Amino acid sequence: MNHAIQLRPVTMQDATLLYGWRNDVLTRQASHSIQEIPWETHLNWLEESLKNSQRVLNIAEYDHRAVGTVRADWRGDAWMLSWTIAPEARGAGHAKAMVALFAAQMKEPVCAEVKSANIASIKTAEYAGMHLLQRDHDVLTFYRSALS
Ligand SMILES: CC(C)(COP(=O)(O)OP(=O)(O)OC[C@H]1O[C@@H](n2cnc3c(N)ncnc32)[C@H](O)[C@@H]1OP(=O)(O)O)[C@@H](O)C(=O)NCCC(=O)NCCS
Repeated sequence: MNHAIQLRPVTMQDATLLYGWRNDVLTRQASHSIQEIPWETHLNWLEESLKNSQRVLNIAEYDHRAVGTVRADWRGDAWMLSWTIAPEARGAGHAKAMVALFAAQMKEPVCAEVKSANIASIKTAEYAGMHLLQRDHDVLTFYRSALS
């Protein structure tokens, strides 16, 4: 797929943008915690995230516009990936392009937890090279081995 997504690190300047995406109703439905997050909690989370060497937080840009965010958390043996596309930018192939590009930069194993009803994210995980590893009720775990 020729899809000119670019990735850049998140900064504190992205706090408002990320807050809006995080509290979007579909994003919350797809998350483990579905409650709305207060602004102060979000700011603290972002500050801590940017100091955390076990976490990588990127913004995806398409045509110089921020269209999504992808995150990796080191879990000791693999990076756990999660992602969100801006509500107004969904359905344009950005998730597939963003997660595939991000995962390709990770030499270590990567995995992702996706709710079984989240068809777009299942396709996104598979497109990024992950395969279904296990199912726990309505949560599917996708996995890709280390890159050689
Ligand atoms: C899920 C999400 C990331 C998908 O982003 P997107 O940019 O719209 O996805 P893409 O356009 O790359 O589409 C990926 C695939 O899913 C399909 N798809 C997109 N939206 C869909 C929908 N609502 N229902 C079913 N399939 C859908 C696309 O057609 C594509 O499939 P294809 O490869 O067969 O063409 C986005 O909707 C989102 O941010 N949702 C809220 C947060 C979330 O679910 N995060 C993931 C948690 S694991």
